[in-house]
Amino acid sequence: MSLGAPIARLEVEALEGYSAPLEGRRGLLRLDFNENTIGPTPLVFTTLRDTPADSYAIYPEYDGLREKLISSLGITNILQPSQIGVFNGVDAALHAICHAFGGPGEKMLTTSPTFGYYAPCARMQGMQLEAIPHTVPDLSFPFQIIYTSLATTRILLICNPNNPSGTRLRPEQVIELATASPSTLIVVDELYETFTGDSVLPFLMGQMNRNPPCNESCNLFSMVPNLLILRSLSKTAGLAGLRLGFAIGDSDLIDRIGRVTGPYDVNSFAVSAAFSALSDQYYLDAYVSEVLQARAWLIDALKLGNVCYHAKGGNYILIWPKSPVDQVCKYLRQNGILVRSMSNKPQINGSLRLSIGTVRQMQYFWLSYLQIENSIPKD
Ligand SMILES: Cc1ncc(COP(=O)(O)O)c(C=O)c1O
Repeated sequence: MSLGAPIARLEVEALEGYSAPLEGRRGLLRLDFNENTIGPTPLVFTTLRDTPADSYAIYPEYDGLREKLISSLGITNILQPSQIGVFNGVDAALHAICHAFGGPGEKMLTTSPTFGYYAPCARMQGMQLEAIPHTVPDLSFPFQIIYTSLATTRILLICNPNNPSGTRLRPEQVIELATASPSTLIVVDELYETFTGDSVLPFLMGQMNRNPPCNESCNLFSMVPNLLILRSLSKTAGLAGLRLGFAIGDSDLIDRIGRVTGPYDVNSFAVSAAFSALSDQYYLDAYVSEVLQARAWLIDALKLGNVCYHAKGGNYILIWPKSPVDQVCKYLRQNGILVRSMSNKPQINGSLRLSIGTVRQMQYFWLSYLQIENSIPKD
């Protein structure tokens, strides 16, 4: 008689695996995961191609990577390498944050709808998840409710701008939440901040500069040691397949999160690619500018077409088709375009999320979309 596989922890038994539809996407126009739609700077290809084979055999080295991020952020001398954690994507950072800080029965507070991986990370530690709905109809951030719930919250996760609603929070509002509850870990996921410029980092810098001249003992996080900022090279930099994410915060916070990660979780190719991607600011700026132009073009088209949409932040937009959303998504796929259906998601039910790529890609999407809408009979 087989005894079967051993039972996992209670929290794990109660969990469903996080499944994103990841297969069969190659060769299609991928407007479903907010990825960079043209790939990273060519410097990344050169670096990876020229990587000597013997370096495959040695464990990765991270020397200089944190410093490289600091210089690309333009805050040398103020941000310290010890204030940066390096992860196998922001997904791995989220996992480690909950592992290090979340205990059974403790509360993770976030908004709804938001990025889908926050919930499983909380639940696998036995945390209670409370997701406050964005305010309808403008999908704004439920600031007052979040503020008043902070006292009983272990981890607050703010996605700014929020994926998928684009909801934005001003940096000073994030800082207000962080200072209101020093015992709560405030995590601000800034994966898409290049498209809005709402990061808390320049705001903290500005606050420091208002104080007497800063020397090496200055700490960007002295007023908010409970604040953690997440950044990734997956989206704007186009390295989603290589996996590299950063957490930025007080050194003690970074140290604690680092205790629950493996010593070599980030691979050597991701590290080499990161050096190249962070060296080419011109490429990053040009990509952001192309996306913003493409978004403006699409918004004009949607207005002219009298299509309901919501576009507040990030390289994505919500569109409410006049025909059933799943049918539209299916036909788009048949035309070689992937988008993400938001059917049955509270507040944004009936919409699809479209990642913004280049102007030409948006023009291609729009032609296809119009053709599909016109071909589906309306009641
Ligand atoms: C808001 C948000 N956070 C985190 C992630 C995961 O980022 P990474 O690819 O760095 O793991 C995503 C990916 O879509 C996201 O949208």
